[in-house]
Amino acid sequence: MKLNIALLAGDGIGPEVIDQAVKVSDAVAQKFGHEINWQPALTGAAAIDAVGEPYPDETHEICANADAVLFGAIGHPRFDNDPSAKVRPEQGLLKMRQKLGLFANVRPTFTFPSLIDKSPLKRERIEGTDLVFLRELTGGIYFGERGRKDDGNTAFDTCTYTREEVQRLAKKGFELAMKRSKRLCCVDKANVLESSRLWRETVQAMEKDYPEVEVSYEFVDAVAMRLVQWPNDYDVLITENLFGDILTDEASVISGSMGLMPSASLGTKTSLFEPIHGSYPQAAGKDIANPLATVLSAAMMFDQFGLADEAEAIRTVVNKSLAEGVVTEDLSEGAKAYKTSEVGDWLAANI
Ligand code: IPM
Ligand code: MN
Repeated sequence: MKLNIALLAGDGIGPEVIDQAVKVSDAVAQKFGHEINWQPALTGAAAIDAVGEPYPDETHEICANADAVLFGAIGHPRFDNDPSAKVRPEQGLLKMRQKLGLFANVRPTFTFPSLIDKSPLKRERIEGTDLVFLRELTGGIYFGERGRKDDGNTAFDTCTYTREEVQRLAKKGFELAMKRSKRLCCVDKANVLESSRLWRETVQAMEKDYPEVEVSYEFVDAVAMRLVQWPNDYDVLITENLFGDILTDEASVISGSMGLMPSASLGTKTSLFEPIHGSYPQAAGKDIANPLATVLSAAMMFDQFGLADEAEAIRTVVNKSLAEGVVTEDLSEGAKAYKTSEVGDWLAANI
């Protein structure tokens, strides 16, 4: 297969972790007889510095015409501490999600047998956890009307959803549930929010089309608590944009490190694959960041192309690196810590 992949390294540790995902993907392509044409493009603070814009039109062209986008991370502290900044790197990510129509963000949470004891949660609670969040990604409070009034002394952000936006996300949830354990949890705050009541009503109306799927409805605050107490109660969870943002960071604790969690953003055409972690500016340029979340995102990319053996080859080698202690300092616990680039080299060599 010939694959054109847009490569958006972004900010902070983005370029370093992306390099490792490229090494590993190239090794997989070579082994299985594929050809990957990587097309680098600017995004984030790096793009603001170069062209004054975090998601330039030229980058969008490259992404829209690619078979997939592999993305590193976005964000820079010099913007975080400046609430008055007019352009921010994160706007690039949001614009990209919107312009590429990436409405469904798939964020799996699973444990690695060799890392169970690295989680701050008890082994018996988290062992066997295997759940997937489907986070709505192009609506809700992230994209609603916002502003200031009262001479700047009052601020507002609004959460808006249309029935159609809920339906297309929920459809992906039902379909995924059918392929898994046929359990679907709709996470909302329908006891308070009107937008949540629309979610619940819409999902309830879809239940008849998927009679085999057992649907539960839970409030987000309760899920936040139960998720870390009884993660095995969950399988597929669907939720709106902000709830999904928060719950998936929380869920990453189950696996032991945020540096391990991949994601896929699916839309109408091109899909995007990225780690759920941020740009980790303190580590940028030090060759110490954990590249596995990005490498596992590349595995999700191969899956999306229907290349299941290729994806499995990546997951297998990642498990092997964890089992053999070829890990970066976030996971090394006093033992030898490998550099980001060394982990990438090892994975590529062992594919
Ligand atoms: C994520 C990130 C982004 C989000 C930020 C960087 C805008 O936290 O992908 O989860 O909030 O969606
Ligand atoms: Mn987030």
